[in-house]
Amino acid sequence: MIKMISSKIALGFVALILTSAFASAFARADSQNTGAQSGDPENGQKLYQTCVACHGDNGQGNDALQAPALAGQYDWYLAQQLDNYNTGKRGTDAADTAGAQMLPMAKQVADEHAKADVLAFIATLDAKNAATADIAAESSAETLRDGSRQYNAQCSACHGSNGKGNVALKSPNLTLLSSDYLTRQLQNYKAGIRGYHQDDKYGKQMRMMANMISNDKNLQDIVAFIQTLDK
Ligand code: HEC
Ligand code: HEC
Repeated sequence: MIKMISSKIALGFVALILTSAFASAFARADSQNTGAQSGDPENGQKLYQTCVACHGDNGQGNDALQAPALAGQYDWYLAQQLDNYNTGKRGTDAADTAGAQMLPMAKQVADEHAKADVLAFIATLDAKNAATADIAAESSAETLRDGSRQYNAQCSACHGSNGKGNVALKSPNLTLLSSDYLTRQLQNYKAGIRGYHQDDKYGKQMRMMANMISNDKNLQDIVAFIQTLDK
């Protein structure tokens, strides 16, 4: 009897740990900024003037220049990408013309203080600013159903069923990204233009996932579905 009770307590305890682990991984889904980049947003705003030409004054991004939205993206993810550009883990492939444009820009905020400051400013920009064309509205119900099925089977474990990413898995928020940018990045991973460096642990992981998307139609369906997720 006592043994049964104590094993019940033990089980309950495990369930409690699991529940709280899940709660902490997902409850903060809307604000997963770690503040690890605790910089000075006022100085960051000055530094950000270098970024405005391509990423926009509200961090909304610009498809014509292939520059993604930054508003609403997490500080730890942006920090990692700036480091990736600065250490040759992203943007160095000869075929990566968009990445090549970002390389000299990342150098401008390579200093740890400058990086922290510019990211602290970007953290003040609202995800709702992100410019995403509403391709979901033009997509057929079948496209969105196929996209949803694939997204939930292949992507949601890391990026969340809401697309907001997961700090514990270092997976970014996808909801603020335009269909052009999402498409190009998924193609880049597949082509080995991104996630190519042996020390780029997370890029390599994502490259493996992109390779599971078997054809262009499936890729477009997934991208269309992501556009239906709330920012
Ligand atoms: C000349 C245009 C241009 C300027 C100026 C510029 N960027 Fe970029 N940025 C880009 C492009 C294009 C990409 C996408 C590159 C790719 O496909 O890898 C990008 C990508 C990024 C990414 C990766 C985002 C992601 O979702 O992975 C970050 C972070 C970033 N830029 C930050 C900055 C910051 C901070 C500044 C200012 C210091 C800046 N950029 C200035 C063009 C620019
Ligand atoms: C095992 C976890 C995992 C799975 C599953 C996964 N991703 Fe990712 N994803 C990541 C990580 C980690 C990154 C950051 C990679 C990097 O630094 O290059 C990422 C990055 C991305 C990016 C780049 C975003 C940007 O701002 O540049 C896109 C797009 C993306 N994932 C889409 C998807 C899609 C679509 C699927 C399903 C087909 C998927 N991911 C499945 C972990 C995952």
